Amino acid sequence: MTALKKMKMGFIFIFSSLCFLAPVTQTHPHHASVVDLAFKNMDFAMNLYRKISSDHDNNIFFSPLSISTSFAALLLASDGDTHEEMLKGFNLEQLEREDQPEFIPKLFQLLHENITQNGSLNLDQAVTLFVHREFEVKKTFEDQINRFFDANIKIVDFADTKPSVSLINDYIKQKTGNRVTNVIDNLDPMTQLMLINTIFFQGEWQLPFNPNLTKSSPFYIDSYNIVLVPTMSKEDKFYTMEDVLLGAKLLKLPYNAGVSMLILLPNQDMDYTHIDDEISAAKFKYWISKLRKIKLEIHLPKFKMEQSYPLHNLLPGLGVSSIFTFSANLTRLSKDLKVSEVLHKAVIEVDEIGTTAAAATTTGIIAYSLPRTFIINRPFFFFIYHEDTNGLLFMGRVIDPTKM
Ligand SMILES: *[C@@H]1O[C@H](CO)[C@@H](O)[C@H](O)[C@H]1NC(C)=O
Ligand SMILES: *[C@@H]1O[C@H](CO)[C@@H](O)[C@H](O)[C@H]1NC(C)=O
Ligand SMILES: *[C@@H]1O[C@H](CO)[C@@H](O)[C@H](O)[C@H]1NC(C)=O
Ligand SMILES: *[C@@H]1O[C@H](CO)[C@@H](O)[C@H](O)[C@H]1NC(C)=O
Repeated sequence: MTALKKMKMGFIFIFSSLCFLAPVTQTHPHHASVVDLAFKNMDFAMNLYRKISSDHDNNIFFSPLSISTSFAALLLASDGDTHEEMLKGFNLEQLEREDQPEFIPKLFQLLHENITQNGSLNLDQAVTLFVHREFEVKKTFEDQINRFFDANIKIVDFADTKPSVSLINDYIKQKTGNRVTNVIDNLDPMTQLMLINTIFFQGEWQLPFNPNLTKSSPFYIDSYNIVLVPTMSKEDKFYTMEDVLLGAKLLKLPYNAGVSMLILLPNQDMDYTHIDDEISAAKFKYWISKLRKIKLEIHLPKFKMEQSYPLHNLLPGLGVSSIFTFSANLTRLSKDLKVSEVLHKAVIEVDEIGTTAAAATTTGIIAYSLPRTFIINRPFFFFIYHEDTNGLLFMGRVIDPTKM
């Protein structure tokens, strides 16, 4: 009991000395870096994840970076209370500079350039705003979202629903190289503005899996449901750690281009929903700081996911609501306009592939010592992040790998 109290005191002490330091950095706006932005985005991501998971027990997959980026584009459209609400909901309040309205968009652009290294990581991301033809879009806004986010505006006559549905679907299909099709099936003729954001990812492992070793293996969804899934395996040195307090083990699988997948596997006796309340940006930082490289034999199911989320239904639960109502203040975009729908669709494929198959070295196998195993055969979480900035590109949960 007393030991615990002492620990808490120590924590408070460190925290208060940080508070003394904080105002100094805040007076130097340029110190806000892409790393700060990435950290704030991650906490937003964990909040959004909790909102999504509170609705159902299925697989989850979305791109926090891509969602934050889409809304940063809408931030340029908003003013007054709507603007304040978005800053708060997206955890961007502390990065706002009253005198520099382009500060946050610029930071997003820098983060994006840093993560994609100006094109060497192919993320296939698209942000498009479909606006009803009766609204006149301000030129400044269009230029800004084009410059900072590579986002486009398309004018649509939503009242003419059928042709508009095909126009939108065709446009998204063409924008995503045919990977995202039929993103919407119907439209409300009263729609004013619809934002569609899509992202596709198929990373290439630094250490590819040998397809010859992929075998159908059981995956234990829960005590009553078992499915057979093609499961890949590999023996090599991997970064791993155990969070004993949380009751989970972590494993890092590096992709090429400075991006990694961090897998969180709850212990066998643990209900995975317990993890939902525990994840945060600070925990994430703690996990990756404690990773240690050891020899492991890993088993990972192959999976493919295609998930879409109506963010206009989820975000009001995070305090972002006025933008979707008639009290929306989007005067920097147009007059008397509200956002009717925001759809996010993310697609991922996890398989054996790697470009550097030839370089797939099996590090010296030490005789006598059998490797420890890391067997992913029950529900798990995963985070795909950029190593230099800790930018969270994707986050997901796999309950049943045989489902999309
Ligand atoms: C939008 O917000 C600005 C700044 O607070 C305010 O001047 C303007 O009147 C607001 N417009 C509407 C339509 O609410
Ligand atoms: C990306 O940001 C990190 C962290 O600030 C920095 O160390 C790195 O050099 C940046 N990379 C590029 C390509 O700018
Ligand atoms: C990306 O390219 C632009 C223009 O050439 C350059 O200003 C920027 O620093 C580059 N960013 C990175 C992260 O290399
Ligand atoms: C997989 O098996 C085939 C047929 O036995 C063999 O030709 C191939 O080299 C194997 N691939 C690897 C990566 O071991």
